[in-house]
Amino acid sequence: MTQQGLFLTFEGIDGSGKSTQARMLADHLRNTGHEVVLTREPGGSPGAEEIRNLVLQGDPDRWSAETELLLFTAARRDHLERTIEPALAEGKVVICDRFADSTRMYQGLSRGNLRAAVDQLHTLMIGREPDMTLLIDMDPDTGLSRAKGRQGVEERFEDFGPDLQRRMRAGFLDLAKEFPKRFRVIDGNRDVDSVAQDVTDIVGTSLR
Ligand code: ADP
Ligand code: TYD
Repeated sequence: MTQQGLFLTFEGIDGSGKSTQARMLADHLRNTGHEVVLTREPGGSPGAEEIRNLVLQGDPDRWSAETELLLFTAARRDHLERTIEPALAEGKVVICDRFADSTRMYQGLSRGNLRAAVDQLHTLMIGREPDMTLLIDMDPDTGLSRAKGRQGVEERFEDFGPDLQRRMRAGFLDLAKEFPKRFRVIDGNRDVDSVAQDVTDIVGTSLR
């Protein structure tokens, strides 16, 4: 597996601790001699970062759900071509904070009922799944309060109420059942170091 690289993604509701855990895992793997590319979506390549600003900033009604789906997919295609695939071809470990499962959830479930279109576009334009997806499962109220604690301009999606956060949590757990081979569910309702220990134990089994 190492020769062709290893593609790991973190998923979960806003504020579940994905970015924190992705950073800690990247540090751990670098310290143990692996070449790591830590990246994120939307974004992760210059063009995709520009699209990130379009989708995450501004009025919540700025885009229809369909247009938003196209923008996220365009960003992912650029990220895949320019960052992810080249790194995997060089045998690196790619750690990505969110990927296609976020589109299945946010555009497929919460912002529109577009799951069929999400899947069709994915097959047509992306056609790749991670080797392993770490789902940080989190109590929705805690996640919401953590996410709201952050100040910034990327607020288009963060006015989600508690009901939607609950549906998203359930939706991610359903996705884990839909793709049981690559999903690992981690209890995120613990201190940062306990969660990180689980993450390194699980990923360790995939790295020789
Ligand atoms: P995400 O990327 O899933 O939105 P972050 O990693 O940015 O989540 O974490 C959201 C906030 O919660 C940050 O302020 C972070 O420092 C804090 N945080 C992350 N993990 C934990 C944890 N296990 N316990 C308490 N706070 C945490
Ligand atoms: P992110 O910066 O990871 O937010 P957070 O740290 O709060 O988890 O992602 C920004 C938002 O973009 C997040 O609310 C989820 C949303 N998103 C989608 O709607 N579709 C997608 O395909 C992706 C990758 C993200």
